[in-house]
Amino acid sequence: MDHIRFLFNNYGANDYIGEPVNQREHALQCAHFARESRPKDSEFVVAALLHDIGHLLGLWITDDKRYRQDSRSRNSVETEKISGDSLDKFSVRTPGRKLAETSSETQTFLEDVMGIKDGSVFTDLSVDTMGDVGISGHENLALEFCTRIGLPSRVGILAMLHVSAKKYLCCVDPHYYEQLSDASKITLKFQGGPMGNVERRQFEDKYGLETVQDAVALRRMDEKAKDPDLHVEDLETYAPLVKTLLENARLKNVFRKERDS
Ligand SMILES: [Fe+2]
Repeated sequence: MDHIRFLFNNYGANDYIGEPVNQREHALQCAHFARESRPKDSEFVVAALLHDIGHLLGLWITDDKRYRQDSRSRNSVETEKISGDSLDKFSVRTPGRKLAETSSETQTFLEDVMGIKDGSVFTDLSVDTMGDVGISGHENLALEFCTRIGLPSRVGILAMLHVSAKKYLCCVDPHYYEQLSDASKITLKFQGGPMGNVERRQFEDKYGLETVQDAVALRRMDEKAKDPDLHVEDLETYAPLVKTLLENARLKNVFRKERDS
């Protein structure tokens, strides 16, 4: 949960790409609708909460890269003395802009999500933007994030599929496109546009109808979660759900390893 708190606390106040709510409000509203309709499906609720976490993770990555570039010029006198591999290691060890004083929360995030344990790795995740409407490939970053913090695979897959579900709905529901917000219509272009019938069938075959229906349901909630006047439960409401999912996934892994050994 620390990883989620970290991103929400540092980047949740950012705009939700041209919508009247911020990232945090959008995520919490989406989780609220998910919990209301499926109170017993914790994986679905947490997927709704985290479906756009890739935007926040992308902001952290770009923020950190910018900081490291600034830091390199600030430290040019020192870095001039260091050459080749050593210079790379030096820059790798530089913490993110807002992370100069490393709290234990930040440290956990760096180690578990970004893979920085001993300064030898920065991150294998890269980001690009969709003009001014968000982080390109944020759905894949969401899957990465969920996987790296140890959530069950269904959570990451449902979070990832919120973009595909939009493309899918444009294909199967003739009225869906018109209901999209202007920002969603713009991002749809960056995301490859609506699915055609062949792509739709491939999508159904790949994930199965049950998962596709879950992804579509989550997408409908995603569309609704943009109400500036709606006040919902806070992030901590979901902490017990996340904790239970993480613990169950961890135990499942332990049992699997024991069985296979
Ligand atoms: Fe969203």
